[in-house]
Parts: sequence; structure tokens; C-alpha cells
Amino acid sequence: MRIFLDTAKADEVRKWLPIIEGVTTNPAILEKDKGDVVEIAKLIDPKVISIEAGGNFIDDARYWHGALPNVAIKIPLLKPDSGNNIDLIYELALEGVLINCTALFSLSQIILAEKAGAAFVSLFAGRVDDEGGDFASMIRDCARYLYNSDTELIVGSIRTVGNALEAIRSGADIVTIPPQILEKMVNHQYSLKTVLEFEGAYARISE
Ligand code: E4P
Repeated sequence: MRIFLDTAKADEVRKWLPIIEGVTTNPAILEKDKGDVVEIAKLIDPKVISIEAGGNFIDDARYWHGALPNVAIKIPLLKPDSGNNIDLIYELALEGVLINCTALFSLSQIILAEKAGAAFVSLFAGRVDDEGGDFASMIRDCARYLYNSDTELIVGSIRTVGNALEAIRSGADIVTIPPQILEKMVNHQYSLKTVLEFEGAYARISE
């Protein structure tokens, strides 16, 4: 299991660099964090940053693929108006573009994205959880289906430490976690209490 950082903040990438093996972004994260994907790509190279294509998807995907050596291009399976991007994913994957098929909410979508040639499939667990859906059993089904596949399951949309742990227990290849959740994962009030107790004792015996 690997951890990616779900952020566009270069400072957070720098801070968590020892434990992360990739970064994921999307247009909403870039808008919120006012991030610079080129700076982050350089920071984490040779690990991979996912950048979501937009506008003219094929041109945008080819641009980022040519501009950065360590980029995966996020392509949603569904088009916003109607139809899907299966042909686009297939074509770009054949050209050697690393595709992260994104905004996925079901095993059936994951199967089709994998068949089209996506290197990563991104399941939005927290959004499933928001609606009262059982994302853990969905992850288990997806992980079982992808067991012998080269396509890797990224579980994203992590809102709580519980979401992250459930995704890991359920068999995600990769969990992409926002910095504020990693911060909660590292902290524990009794850990801190213990550290303070030992530090006090160390000071006293060193007098
Ligand atoms: C990751 O690849 C996704 O873009 C991200 O985790 C989505 O998170 P959200 O559901 O909080 O927007």
C-alpha cells in the first residue's frame, strides 16, 4: 500500500516527502490551494503527480505528458454533457500517456476504465460515504477484480482518518490523503503525554 498526498500545496509536499509516493491534484484543489503543478512535479520527481486534463482533453493531456516526465493525466470516465471518454483513454494510453481515470463511483466503471487502458483508477470513497454508501465493500470488490491487473486502485476523497484506514484495510493499492488528515494520523494525545513525561524524567536525571 502506498500513500499519495491529495494537495496542490508545495510546502505540504515538502513536509510529507519522506512518506508519500505521489501527489494527486484536481482543478478544485488547484483553485483552492493556488498551487503550481510544475513546482510540485519537480519536488516529487521521479514519483508521479496526477494532473487533471480540462478544456480540450486530448491536447491538454498531450501537453502535460510532453512537459513533465513524471505525470499521470486524470481523465474522468464520463463527459460533462453526455457520453464517455473511453476512446480518449484508449488512444492516450496507446501513446504511452499514464492515465488516471477519475471520479469513479462503482465497480462497473472501474472495470471499463481498466479495459480502456488506465494505469490508475480513482474511486472517490469519501463521496460514497457522504451518501451513506458502503465504500469499504466497493473497494474490496474493486481490489479483487484488479488483483492480476497492471491497473492500480487509488482511493481518494478521504475526509477522515477512519476513511483512510478503512480504505487501507479494504485493499486499496494507493490511498490519496489530504495533508490535514495525515496531520491527524500522526498525532495522538497519549503519545504526546508519554513523550512529555519521558522528557521531564530525562531532564531530572541529567541534573
Ligand atoms: C483525488 O484524486 C481526488 O481528486 C480527490 O481526492 C477528491 O476529493 P474530494 O471528494 O474531497 O473533492
